[in-house]
Amino acid sequence: MRTKITGTGMYVPDRVVTNDDLAQWMDTSDEWIQQRTGILERRWIGPDQQPADLAERACRQALDAAGLEPNDIDCILLGTLSSQADFPGTSFFLQHKLGLEDTPCMDVRAQCSGFLYMLQLADALIRAGTHRKMLVVGCEVHSTGLDISTRGRDVTVIFGDGSGAVVLEASEEEGDAPGILEVRIHSQGEHAKRLWVEAPGSGISPSRLTHEMIDDGRVFPHMEGRFVFKHAVTRMPEVLLETLDAASLKIEDVDLFLFHQANLRINEFVAGKLEIPEDKLFNNIMSYGNCSAAAIPMLLHETQANGMLTPGKLVSMTAFGAGFSWASAVARW
Ligand code: COA
Repeated sequence: MRTKITGTGMYVPDRVVTNDDLAQWMDTSDEWIQQRTGILERRWIGPDQQPADLAERACRQALDAAGLEPNDIDCILLGTLSSQADFPGTSFFLQHKLGLEDTPCMDVRAQCSGFLYMLQLADALIRAGTHRKMLVVGCEVHSTGLDISTRGRDVTVIFGDGSGAVVLEASEEEGDAPGILEVRIHSQGEHAKRLWVEAPGSGISPSRLTHEMIDDGRVFPHMEGRFVFKHAVTRMPEVLLETLDAASLKIEDVDLFLFHQANLRINEFVAGKLEIPEDKLFNNIMSYGNCSAAAIPMLLHETQANGMLTPGKLVSMTAFGAGFSWASAVARW
């Protein structure tokens, strides 16, 4: 028994926010953002859009590609760090939008590594026979939680809104048949506060949210950018090689490398360290910024659509994010 990806989908809102748009609201520039991050523009939701709307669009596209209806799905996993409400998770709003009555769903909170964490979980559930058809979706609406003043510029310029989804199905095919080959995941809570949103949080007593916290900006993401960068460029190659090794594969065997889209410079650094040729790497951060848990399924969808990911190809996916969390997976398409 193995787990096969049978459909992909993605959705980003129509509203394009350019670097020049951001420069109207904070002290930054198109040149700074492009040089440091590679980002040209990102998408933000419109007035009436919510996370589950984005996720629904991505899921319906993935279901169409797999030739399935929502009712065929046994279980939904949704990765997010920007949940639609404090509780319940976004997956519950999505499940209702898909017209489902009692299909189980859950949110997974592993930030930018969330999609690969879910891939490991879904693969285990499918191999165990617990479920046969699963939807795994990453969905982020960062724009409503960003500090759009100079105080928040280091974080605000990198994030974008978007959703990506895959359908996973049990497959009995053997040999070199398509499927997830290996997934490895790691965390280091020691650094949880190096990239986090503190409030509202039940760790703060007697009240998880006060006017003072809002005034002090504790409701916005805070990031030690250089520290995060240094760890990302160390952990990503480490876990990528660990995962390939577990699958008895080498860098040269892989046809396509997909890296989390947090900063183009991180990805260039990792690719250089591992001597990955440019034509085996695909990035879309230029157009969408960092969509956290949605980034990897969005990459899967775009590389399939542009013909880079065709049947038989080996694809390696690697992410690093808040927590800290990092993960890698390798699959045959
Ligand atoms: N526009 C203009 N100047 C900015 C800016 C912006 N958007 N953001 C920060 N700066 C300024 C800083 O205030 C600082 O000014 P100073 O030298 O006068 O103090 C200077 O630029 C350098 O800041 P620094 O934070 O050291 O920049 P950097 O080179 O580390 O780049 C990041 C910042 C965020 C692009 C980079 O650290 C990064 O990508 N980190 C990792 C992000 C990541 O992977 N996140 C995890 C996934 S969610």
